[in-house]
Amino acid sequence: MTEQVRLGGREVPPGAPSPDIALFRRAVGRFATGVCVVSTLTGGRDHAMTANAFTSVSLDPLLVLVCVEQDSRFHDAVLDAGVWGVSVLDERARGTAEWLATPGRPLVGQLDPVPHHRGAVTGVALVDASLATLECRTTSAHLAGDHVIVVGEVVSVGLAPEGHGPLLYHRSSYRSLR
Ligand SMILES: Cc1cc2nc3c(=O)[nH]c(=O)nc-3n(C[C@H](O)[C@H](O)[C@H](O)COP(=O)(O)O)c2cc1C
Repeated sequence: MTEQVRLGGREVPPGAPSPDIALFRRAVGRFATGVCVVSTLTGGRDHAMTANAFTSVSLDPLLVLVCVEQDSRFHDAVLDAGVWGVSVLDERARGTAEWLATPGRPLVGQLDPVPHHRGAVTGVALVDASLATLECRTTSAHLAGDHVIVVGEVVSVGLAPEGHGPLLYHRSSYRSLR
């Protein structure tokens, strides 16, 4: 069921200066995150990109979201496909994260250098060097500035055996817990 959410709260005083974008980027970059690869399959072609604007949303039903830049090629692909995967990368996957964040990389064959397997439910590509994987079906998409918030119902969950730590991202750098 979709319900309208009532928005309240005080107005920001008119004429308040807008925060500086570079300062904002530095501030949100101090929020340490994991790193994932989101992947989709449309027209028989894989598309995948590195993302950290990912979060779990709901347990009943199982929902997650990823924020996708409208200018990215992944944006059109994921909205067209309606299904997508999330690979929560482990510390071995730094090269994969760098590659799948490279602007303008060739779409055809972009997963050739990335060891991966196929999700059993949707067939999307899932990165082998992951701590966990999800397959999702898009349930809604919300315009939010220059991004779209894509919300998906989780239709499968995979967990890797223990052994590797997470790939992290903090202050514009990849890190690990070691
Ligand atoms: C650590 C990291 C996290 C990123 N997170 C996101 C994200 O959450 N959403 C997004 O749209 N782009 C994100 N990007 C940027 C995309 O990975 C990048 O723009 C990519 O080239 C898009 O690929 P495409 O244009 O082929 O779709 C991130 C990049 C890095 C390095």
